[in-house]
Amino acid sequence: MRFPEREITLKDGRTCVLKPTGPEVAAEMIVYMKITAGETEWLLRYPDEVNFTLEGEQDILGKILDDPGHVMMAAIVDGKVAGNASISGIGNKRKILHRCSLAIALYREYWSLGIGRAMIEYLIELAKEIGFSQMDLEVVAENTQAQALYRKCGFIETGRRHNALKFDDGSMHDEILMYRDL
Ligand SMILES: CC(C)(COP(=O)(O)OP(=O)(O)OC[C@H]1O[C@@H](n2cnc3c(N)ncnc32)[C@H](O)[C@@H]1OP(=O)(O)O)[C@@H](O)C(=O)NCCC(=O)NCCS
Repeated sequence: MRFPEREITLKDGRTCVLKPTGPEVAAEMIVYMKITAGETEWLLRYPDEVNFTLEGEQDILGKILDDPGHVMMAAIVDGKVAGNASISGIGNKRKILHRCSLAIALYREYWSLGIGRAMIEYLIELAKEIGFSQMDLEVVAENTQAQALYRKCGFIETGRRHNALKFDDGSMHDEILMYRDL
């Protein structure tokens, strides 16, 4: 979905632009997915599972731009992608049409500057405009930094999925389920 660009001032004084993640940043997005997957254990993919071709990624981002129920938002700092966040409907059956799901990740060097909060606040506005009435997310139980951010943005813990993730080292990790009424 297309939406207006928004400029925010970061905690270090720099300017950040929140804008639709279009096909023009496809190459940057592939690098971003690979690097962020290696910088934290809290994302679903391992770096070797980021296998998008440039054409494939351009196609995906182009389709999302034209999809009125799917928002993909890039945070741009000094002309470069600092992070990405998205909301999408969880399914097209009528009983679940009211729910969307949130995902977000920033390069580590851009953590704790206020980007995450600004992106989620903007996504909440856009989700309401689209007509969703509930935003859901899952977060690894040990990812307390993200949980602190989600709570500040009004999310409430509603459950826990036992052993949702099995890491390559064999360790098992629960997921916390959170939601926010819109
Ligand atoms: C989780 C993530 C998106 C947070 O974004 P961010 O831009 O760093 O967060 P913000 O700077 O907007 O911080 C918002 C709040 O989060 C909390 N927070 C931020 N950094 C924190 C830290 N290092 N430790 C604890 N809480 C922290 C604070 O409560 C902060 O509130 P404040 O604005 O009143 O100070 C980012 O750290 C990230 O990309 N992490 C790796 C990927 C990930 O975990 N994604 C979520 C998967 S579910």
